Amino acid sequence: MDRSKVREIVETFMVPTQKSSYMGGLESRPVLVASRGSTVTDTEGKTYLDFQSGQMGAALGHQHPRIVSTINETMLSMMHSTKTMLNVPRLELHERLGRILPRPLQKSLFLVSGSDSNEAAVDMARKATGGMDVLGFHAGLHGSTSLITRSLSFNWSRSKHSAVAPGTAAILTPYCYRCPLRLSFPSCELQCLKASFELADANFTGKPAAFIGEPVLSAGGVIVPPKGYYKALQDEVRPRGMALILDEAQTGLGKTGKLFGFQHETGVSPDIITVSKHFGGGLPISAVCSTAEIADRAVANGFFATRSHAADPVLCAAGTASIDVVVNEKLADRSAAIEQRMKDGLTAIGQRHGLVGDVRGRGVLLGVELVTDPVTKNPANGAAQAIQKRAMELGLIFQLRGTGSMLNVLRFVPPMTTTDAEVNRALAILDDSFAYAAQADTKARAGVAAQ
Ligand SMILES: Cc1ncc(COP(=O)(O)O)c(C=O)c1O
Repeated sequence: MDRSKVREIVETFMVPTQKSSYMGGLESRPVLVASRGSTVTDTEGKTYLDFQSGQMGAALGHQHPRIVSTINETMLSMMHSTKTMLNVPRLELHERLGRILPRPLQKSLFLVSGSDSNEAAVDMARKATGGMDVLGFHAGLHGSTSLITRSLSFNWSRSKHSAVAPGTAAILTPYCYRCPLRLSFPSCELQCLKASFELADANFTGKPAAFIGEPVLSAGGVIVPPKGYYKALQDEVRPRGMALILDEAQTGLGKTGKLFGFQHETGVSPDIITVSKHFGGGLPISAVCSTAEIADRAVANGFFATRSHAADPVLCAAGTASIDVVVNEKLADRSAAIEQRMKDGLTAIGQRHGLVGDVRGRGVLLGVELVTDPVTKNPANGAAQAIQKRAMELGLIFQLRGTGSMLNVLRFVPPMTTTDAEVNRALAILDDSFAYAAQADTKARAGVAAQ
């Protein structure tokens, strides 16, 4: 398909994407036709390293052979099924997932998207606790359904949508590189958490229900809460009778170097977790997982959540196959190895070209925060854009993320099956792209000086 045809379809038949948003200007980006492993190919035959794993749904690699063969086989026997009767792939997935969940998590229900699962998790927590108010991080993101998950996606600017769900409020994100209280960890003794809960108590409109957070905040700029933070948060949440919900959409099933992102901290035991993204190996399926006690209490109080396609055999079979791939191919270990290689390479790039304020993340969820000056930490939004553009020209795709108005974090999410050679190639492209951005910056400064 040529560019003029693409433009015609976009202009005539597509609901437009807001120009200034991260999905703006789609028509001038590559149009994809094929994908395999850690690469995608566009209509012009150019192949890119996909260091965003599609929309993070391809963390097992695109078209993983085990997933493709499972989907093909299941399609031939049963593609769609009623949810008013059980089907075998659905039962198998409940058991497969239940057996890998850290206890006391054990029970699951299936939905289609990550947003669905978080919406249902909040409903479940409300029914189980009898509470209403739900807290989330001010740099968090939990979905795009029109009421609950958007309202709790504080990093997507709640002012963009008119109706905000009642009983939703933010607490400060423990963003140590840019501490909102200008303190340093660990001497801060987690004042951000203490102050946030003092404020939350004053704001609660009734009995609180839950806190929801990502073990590593992805869209907010790959922010890793400091050691001990989640345990301290749990200690605030529990005495208030609130449920702890952890959104493992981007951190679950191997991506951070452990099976679940919350397992990096000892003593953390969430009441509910949600999984989505690569859970279906590339197909859309999500799960809400909870303890038997929470599930039973919520259901006794009227909780239910479902979708027409939530128990489709083909999606459930893909879910079981994806867990098998993660476990059998030891992808959590592979993620940890990729983390090390990427962090070493990115740190070296920072030493060579400057701009790098912070290299962070876990496993294959990595962020590089760019600043114009390491002391003032001025966000280098322009350089981030220039590096992303140049890297795309050289054959590497990744996204820019950040908190609030900053878009200065290069976010890398390579598939867990990415080879060392592919990681090295990505690092070489980044090295060139940083050099290019630094040159462009020097020329621009010389131009300004000459004026
Ligand atoms: C942490 C997190 N939770 C939930 C979602 C929403 O998932 P979905 O787009 O599948 O509804 C996202 C989307 O990127 C996410 O990053």
